[in-house]
Amino acid sequence: MTQSAMYSRVIGTGSYLPLCRVTNQQLVDELARRGIQTSDEWIVSRTGIRARHFSAPEQTSSDMALEAACRALEMAKLKASEIDLIIVATSTPDFVFPSTACLVQSKLGIKNGGAAFDIQAVCSGFVYAFSMADNLIRSGVYRNALVIGTEVFSRLLDFNDRTTCVLFGDGAGAIVLQQSRQPGVLSSVLHADGSHANILCVPGNVQGGMVAGQAFLQMDGQAVFKLAVKVLEKVAHEVLDKAGIDSSLIDWLIPHQANLRIMTSTAKKLGVSDEKMVITVDQHGNTSAASIPLALDVAVRDGRIHSGHRVMVQGVGGGFTWGAILFCM
Ligand code: UT7
Repeated sequence: MTQSAMYSRVIGTGSYLPLCRVTNQQLVDELARRGIQTSDEWIVSRTGIRARHFSAPEQTSSDMALEAACRALEMAKLKASEIDLIIVATSTPDFVFPSTACLVQSKLGIKNGGAAFDIQAVCSGFVYAFSMADNLIRSGVYRNALVIGTEVFSRLLDFNDRTTCVLFGDGAGAIVLQQSRQPGVLSSVLHADGSHANILCVPGNVQGGMVAGQAFLQMDGQAVFKLAVKVLEKVAHEVLDKAGIDSSLIDWLIPHQANLRIMTSTAKKLGVSDEKMVITVDQHGNTSAASIPLALDVAVRDGRIHSGHRVMVQGVGGGFTWGAILFCM
């Protein structure tokens, strides 16, 4: 008798946005007070962003991750104690250590739990974490995983640098992945090329009680744009080929929400209509590792994505890192 294949399936989604919503015009006015010139027209036409959320000073990545995780657990109808794996993708952890995943585990009230660790792949972090959790579940080691992307990117922004500070926002998104005999994740592909490390980075670290180097985000926007467009198309075809599926069978495309122009270019090259793409970059800005689970949760809760739909998520970001996952809801 042959045993049927083991999958991991998304059984719950959740997200959290900080209360402070800042429109382009509010940001433009604030920057003008600092002598920095920008405009709503420039931000919308170059990026598609209209608003973003910023966390309160005392709010941390683990706080927001907890909110998103509780909502995902509620949808999954699981108790926190049933979670045996927590992976948090973040570039803005609460501390150097312990990991944000351990802090989330503790805030969820889990004692003597399973594994909990962070993944650092910047804006591709959620796709990396999702793929790792899928592999660990399919191997039979874990049964119920919480996969979270959470960021307070506003803390890395230099509000005197108009080329970066208008682009990013804060938030968190989470999924619950469960072992299943029913198809869930169909294929995943991850890549990295560290030779492009300098085009998107925060080149600082802690030394002798001080930050050594630069603690603000630096980006060569055009270089990132060109690379992102190229790798997102390639990885989409890789993940489709691996699953043996044609792009016409994708119900929903959820690319990393960084720039609407990058997203529509990828969709067009794949032959996926804009109506099949989930867009939240206009309201959230670029929330790095949180952008994909945030967008997924929005589309699940408003009824667009439902059981049986085929979804492709795509991440791209600092490292340089990129990847894609094709899954059935
Ligand atoms: O999450 C990781 C992935 N990140 C990304 O995917 C970001 C990828 N890159 C981008 O999204 C775009 O490159 C940006 C949105 C960052 C920039 O758009 P762009 O069309 O590549 O603009 P640019 O950098 O070529 O700048 C065009 C002009 C420049 O002025 P000059 O040199 O032409 O006179 C900039 O100084 O726009 C100027 N500029 C601004 N003007 C008003 C740059 N930032 C601003 C601003 N407001 N905020």
